[in-house]
Amino acid sequence: MEFPVLTINPAKTETDCIVVPVLADAPLLTATEKLDDASERLINQLIERGDFEPSLGKTQLLPFAPGLSTDRLLLVGCGASDKMNQGNYRKALDAALMHLLTLKVDNAAIAFTDIDVPDVDTAWKARMIAEAGIRALYRFDDYKTTKKAAYTLETLNILLSDTNAKSEAEAGVARGQAVGRGINLTRQLANLPANVCTPRYLAEQAEALGRDSALEVTIFDEHQLEELGAGALLAVGKGSAEPPRMIVMEYKGAADNEAPYVLVGKGITFDSGGISIKPGADMDEMKFDMGGAASVFGTMKTLLETRPAINVVAIVAAAENMPDGRALKPGDIIKTLKGLTVEILNTDAEGRLVMCDALAYAERYNPATVIDIATLTGACIVALGDHAAGLLSNDDDVALDLLDAGEQAWDRAWHLPLWDEYQSQLDSNYADLANIGGKKAGTITAACYLSRFAENYPWAHLDIAGVAWDGKKGATGRPVGLLSQYLFNRADEIVQISND
Ligand code: BES
Ligand code: MN
Ligand code: ZN
Repeated sequence: MEFPVLTINPAKTETDCIVVPVLADAPLLTATEKLDDASERLINQLIERGDFEPSLGKTQLLPFAPGLSTDRLLLVGCGASDKMNQGNYRKALDAALMHLLTLKVDNAAIAFTDIDVPDVDTAWKARMIAEAGIRALYRFDDYKTTKKAAYTLETLNILLSDTNAKSEAEAGVARGQAVGRGINLTRQLANLPANVCTPRYLAEQAEALGRDSALEVTIFDEHQLEELGAGALLAVGKGSAEPPRMIVMEYKGAADNEAPYVLVGKGITFDSGGISIKPGADMDEMKFDMGGAASVFGTMKTLLETRPAINVVAIVAAAENMPDGRALKPGDIIKTLKGLTVEILNTDAEGRLVMCDALAYAERYNPATVIDIATLTGACIVALGDHAAGLLSNDDDVALDLLDAGEQAWDRAWHLPLWDEYQSQLDSNYADLANIGGKKAGTITAACYLSRFAENYPWAHLDIAGVAWDGKKGATGRPVGLLSQYLFNRADEIVQISND
């Protein structure tokens, strides 16, 4: 879908449908007022008669519009003006697009940049329109024999009242499209069933992205992992017929000597729990236990489309966690890539095992920062639900940068403590540490475990167990918005410094 930015009179905009925002308690916004004036106060009359109630996300189609060059108007309720914020702007947008796509038109226009949203600029509003447009087109029906007809919308014109902000809006659109496509790739990978999306399948996806010359891809198979000494990743993969893989993708947007930002993704393509097997209910959802890896793939796609001037390395630790005669057992002691030994007290705490070898591997890049992303603990869902990712870090500056990026992208995280006091929960009688930390503070002790492997660089961990999956809608594509914003900000910082 394309998103041209138009600064012409909305009443003269020739299109199949114009989407107009209506606040519950405020006069019509600039473009909407022009449409209203040119159409014998069509919109105002409707509201005055009480025929349209502009509560947040409510939509109403006007199938014809006298005096206007558009065939239709789609009114979108935006709720009270003092409640308008980034989240409500996105809700109104999603509702608008959902209705618009059912109209089966191919060209539409949207007047949403007029809405006043605290703390954001025109670029942000345009960006969110493009991102929402791309996200709305995604459907997961690959395995339905009879598919629904493809969506017809090809062009969504962005109406802009402030003519000076055109290039700003266009820059926002470019990023929004790229983030939207990254999100959709992440959703696709996470939605795929585990009999299709295996560690080897993920490796193939990396190789496909690597056809772009800005991305260098290296795959470690089980033999190379053995040579490397990745004992923890191998241990998790042992019980499965599908061999594990470590996937490395290096994006080069800056000089070779610039320290890279490293992303590490948990790629458990299916988590049965292993010998510490999970209960049957909802076990099918454990196909999305590679959501961290999927978000790393999505973010790399966004980078390739936007080419920020930074270096980024993605490391995906991919394995399938299954029980069989060769599987890892409770009580086993393994040796990790870093050299630390780990006593396995529960084979269902496998995410931290595959991640710890990838974190140890990250050290060789002398990274600027390392961010890991993992569907790591059920405890994080208990603590934060599905609105915020859990954020834990050994560096307060990195934590703040990530929290900021999450607010900007409206893909938020919440900071949890990583105090030394929690570390002793991982003490083991027989090895350097245990892989679980008891009943209390499950998200924090999981992060404590990872922190032992991330001591030598600024590091943060995002626990996305709650945010990556929506029970009804499937994979959400989070936290691609947060991660790409974090990386855009790093690149923009460099541009700003060199301009000063
Ligand atoms: N993949 C799960 C965490 C998870 C649970 C993600 C539900 C999304 C939804 C992880 O591997 C796991 O099983 N964690 C255990 C840890 C426990 C054994 C210490 C958990 O959270 O129960
Ligand atoms: Mn598990
Ligand atoms: Zn898991």
